[in-house]
Amino acid sequence: MNSPLSSIVILGTGSYLPERIVTNDDMAQIVETSDEWIQARTGIRQRRFAAEGENTSHMASAAARRAIEDAGIDPTEIDLILVATMTPDMPFPSTACLVQSQLGLPQCTAFDIQAACTGYVYGLNIATSMLQSGNYNKALVVGAEKLSGILDFEDRSTCVLFGDGAGAAVLGCSDVSGVGMIGGIGGADGSNPEILCQPAGGSAIPPGTDSLAARQHFLKMNGKEIFKQAVRVMGQASTDLLEKTAVDADDLALIIPHQANLRIIDSLTKRLGIPVDNVFINLQDYGNTSAASVGIALDEARHSGRIKTGDLTLLVAFGAGLTWGATMVKW
Ligand code: ACO
Repeated sequence: MNSPLSSIVILGTGSYLPERIVTNDDMAQIVETSDEWIQARTGIRQRRFAAEGENTSHMASAAARRAIEDAGIDPTEIDLILVATMTPDMPFPSTACLVQSQLGLPQCTAFDIQAACTGYVYGLNIATSMLQSGNYNKALVVGAEKLSGILDFEDRSTCVLFGDGAGAAVLGCSDVSGVGMIGGIGGADGSNPEILCQPAGGSAIPPGTDSLAARQHFLKMNGKEIFKQAVRVMGQASTDLLEKTAVDADDLALIIPHQANLRIIDSLTKRLGIPVDNVFINLQDYGNTSAASVGIALDEARHSGRIKTGDLTLLVAFGAGLTWGATMVKW
């Protein structure tokens, strides 16, 4: 068991993207849109959609397998599994339980985190606290989404924005002090849940002919309102965490923001006064993969040499709820 004074570090990361590439031109075959409109409003060029029968748990397991391999640990050491998703295979049991079984992991504590696009960042913060408690040894944190399963392909204002995929990390402890997860924050404001939600399918509006006719089982979003809130809360979460960890924005080697929209990321960059080169962006290739987005981006950043030993990295996200969160990692 960890000493409560150990540093909690990311031992390995992994990601998984389904094979099927869907370009903006492909989307224009489904709804009235264009590559020009999508790129100008969002920066997205293409996204990946899961294959028939390929579920969130399968993508989560694939990313987790790579993270475990990258960490170089024995999978039997994992005693905590957290899966962040808003598109679980089914409402229950949790996707975390399915991942435990698919990977043959120990029969340990396993549960899902529902914080929409902020889920992976919440997951890192929750895992850090649970490891710091000394009650757990190694944590697997996964963000995974099959958003193609809840998109309304008759609504051009939402279906062009999202994609499928998974990102994962293995966390453990280190005797080196002052490294790893050096601070995290999170927040939520549930006063306007309808600005981004999947109205039906829960206990409030169970599946029925009316909910199906009203297309209430699909994702609904007030894009303009979410845009405004996203700019505000991502900026606030970032500055709050910089203050809490006593880190100057200039000292950040890399910011990995939730990959929803290039214009939202541009606003964040301007607000923090940091060069655009210090921001990791891959939304052009994958669209918004919700809880998977920061995990996929972190894995790509690490494996493409964008993160070096000693670097300070800020991970920041917002999502439905509204939720927001940030975490600071020293490598
Ligand atoms: N193709 C072509 N035209 C479109 C499309 C499309 N795909 N979608 C909407 N339009 C039209 C609209 O109908 C509207 O036409 P009108 O003026 O004739 O009514 C026009 O384009 C402008 O629409 P707006 O909604 O004003 O476009 P806006 O500039 O606000 O961009 C967007 C829309 C991209 C959705 C933006 O608001 C946004 O990115 N919002 C944030 C979304 C987001 O980040 N969501 C993820 C949240 S995270 C989570 O938890 C899942």
